[in-house]
Amino acid sequence: MSLDIQTVTKAFPGTQALQGVSLQAGDGEFLALLGPSGSGKTTLLRVLAGLEVPDAGTVWFGGQDITRVPARQRGIGMVFQHYALFRHMTVAQNVAFGLNARPRALRPGRAQIVQRVEDLLALVHLEGLGARYPTQLSGGQRQRVALARALAIEPRLLLLDEPFGALDAKVRRELRGALRDIHDRTGVTTVFVTHDQDEALALADRVAVMRDGLIEQVGTPHELRSAPATAFVTDFLARPPETWLGRGGDGPEGSPRP
Ligand SMILES: Nc1ncnc2c1ncn2[C@@H]1O[C@H](COP(=O)(O)OP(=O)(O)OP(=O)(O)O)[C@@H](O)[C@H]1O
Ligand SMILES: [Mg+2]
Repeated sequence: MSLDIQTVTKAFPGTQALQGVSLQAGDGEFLALLGPSGSGKTTLLRVLAGLEVPDAGTVWFGGQDITRVPARQRGIGMVFQHYALFRHMTVAQNVAFGLNARPRALRPGRAQIVQRVEDLLALVHLEGLGARYPTQLSGGQRQRVALARALAIEPRLLLLDEPFGALDAKVRRELRGALRDIHDRTGVTTVFVTHDQDEALALADRVAVMRDGLIEQVGTPHELRSAPATAFVTDFLARPPETWLGRGGDGPEGSPRP
């Protein structure tokens, strides 16, 4: 499914979070949104998810105007940095959640759900851990469960907001590889938010660099490296991510807001 974002604006009291963002992603593309803290990455992702309605502009997906379609009707899978799994549910129950929550007529049969959960746990390399509870997993394993849960509904669009931000560098690199591999196998159109340029450049087909609610440049990793369009992009790609906390601070930005 291809995505077409047209001049989307969104203001919060005292902040123009998105100032007219236009951006496209092709069917099956892996797109990264890269930018400093406060540049509007999460806001844009929440607009795509249907968790924020833009003040102006349009979001098209698969040829349909989805700007005002409610979140639960969009067929979107989401993974957040601090999105806690359901603690009282096993791994398998967490993964099955989106399927079990469907109305009866659309819900797969029990045996089918069990099989689907098994397949998904294999996909994220967590075979055999279905009976564990989230507290019995490492941080990296929990994010794999979150990814399997997001994929369970066979989303048309996968949105990830700094999903590996809380993990150490080694686990982060492993999960990067796993995510790219899963993307290539499922072919799901993916939008991945990060403020880590290495992560964006290593993972994505194309990277959109955001600054102050606008897209500064969009291009392949090679294009950004070889022909940065502005001094900001040059600087941003050259600096270690921790120096780019910017105006918003580095709070639990990936968490869903109430
Ligand atoms: N619900 C809200 N109410 C008020 N202001 C908000 C709200 N959500 C975001 N903002 C503001 O909008 C701007 C963009 O925020 P956003 O969360 O999209 O940034 P971000 O690029 O995801 O940053 P980070 O890397 O820190 O997660 C910031 O100035 C932020 O303070
Ligand atoms: Mg954010």
